[in-house]
Amino acid sequence: METEHLTPDQLDRAVELLRRGGLVAIPTETVYGLAADGTNPAAAARIFEAKGRPQDNPLILHLLSVDWLPRCCGEIPPAARTLAGRFWPGSLTLVLPKGNHVPDVVTGGLDTVAVRCPDHPVARALIEAAGVPLAAPSANRSGRPSPTTAAHVLEDMAGRIDAVLDGGSCTVGVESTILDLTVSPPRLLRPGGVPLEELRAVIGAVAVDDAVLRPMAAGERPRAPGMQYRHYAPKAPVTVVRGAPDAAAAYIEARLSPSAGVIVFDEWAARFAGYATQTIGSVEDDREQARRIFDALRAFDHTPVTEIWAMCPAGDGLGLAVSNRLSKAAGFHIVDGEEEP
Ligand code: TXA
Ligand code: MG
Repeated sequence: METEHLTPDQLDRAVELLRRGGLVAIPTETVYGLAADGTNPAAAARIFEAKGRPQDNPLILHLLSVDWLPRCCGEIPPAARTLAGRFWPGSLTLVLPKGNHVPDVVTGGLDTVAVRCPDHPVARALIEAAGVPLAAPSANRSGRPSPTTAAHVLEDMAGRIDAVLDGGSCTVGVESTILDLTVSPPRLLRPGGVPLEELRAVIGAVAVDDAVLRPMAAGERPRAPGMQYRHYAPKAPVTVVRGAPDAAAAYIEARLSPSAGVIVFDEWAARFAGYATQTIGSVEDDREQARRIFDALRAFDHTPVTEIWAMCPAGDGLGLAVSNRLSKAAGFHIVDGEEEP
C-alpha cells in the first residue's frame, strides 16, 4: 500500500478514504492520530493491525463538540459537561460509561469509552465532514514515541496506512490528559496537555492512578490499559536523572561514555558540547519541553548513540506529563541526581 501525503486542502480525499473504511493519520494539537470511522468495527480493527497494537488497548473517540456525547456515551455525569465547557475543544480525554452503539473493538470490550474534542482546525474540519466520531490512537507503531509531525508518522507507518493529512507540527506535543469520570473521586489515568492542577481547580479532588507514577507489576492491570506497556521508547536504553538540574547535570557528566546521548534543558546544553545532545527548551518552560520531548526521543534513532541520559522536569504543570513520558521511555529506570555518586 502506498501512503498518500495529503495537504489540508485535500480534505475531501481524506473523507473518502475514511468512508471506505481506510486509515488516515491526522494532525491534532497534541500528537498525530491514526483515524478511522469510529462507527465501523472493521475500520477500527485495521488500526490495531497497522500499529501492532494489543487488542485490549482501547481507542479514543474524537468528537466535534459536547453535543456529540450522547452518540457514544451512556449516562453523562454533570462533571463531564463542566469539564467539557472549560477544556473542549482541547487536550482532555474523558472516560465515561459506554453507549450501546460504540463497537466493542473500539473500547477493547470495556463498558467505558474515552472521548475528546481535538483543538485543531484540520482535525475539526475532517470530523465535521466525515460526520462520525473518529477513533484515533497516536499514529506511531505500538511502543514507539508518539508522532508530532507528518514525517514522524511516515517513519513508523509508511506503507501501512492509506494517507497522512499534513497539518504541520503539533502545538502541545504530548497526548491528552485522561480523566476517568466513572469512579469517585475522578481519577487521572494519564497526565497530558491539560495540567492536573487545572482539573482540580475546576472539579476539586482528583486521584492519581498508580500507573502514572510507577511501573506495573506482573499481572497488575491499570485502568488505562495502555499504561501497562513499555512505551515511547527510542532504540537505545534511557536513564532518567531526577533532582535539581545542576546536580542532575553533574551526575550525568560524571558517567557519560563517548557513545552516550543526553536530553538536556537549554541552560545546561553547553556542558555537554561534543556529545550527541537533544535540547528540550528552558528548565522554566514546560510548554516548550512538552512540544519537543517526542522529537528528542526519536532523534537519537538517527544517531549511533548506545545509551541516553535524560534530565527530567519537576512534576508540576506540563512537567508531570513530560516526566511521565521520559520515565516510560526509560522503563522507569530512574536515578536521583542528588545522591552521592
Ligand atoms: O492526545 C491524544 O489523546 C491522542 C490524540 C491522537 O488524540 N491519542 C492518544 O491515543 O494518545 P492512544 O491510543 O495513543 O492513547 C489512549 C490511551 C491508552 O492508554 C488507552 O489504554 C486509554 O487511552 N484508554 C482508551 N479508552 C479507555 C477507556 N475506556 N478506559 C481507560 N483507558 C482508556
Ligand atoms: Mg499512544
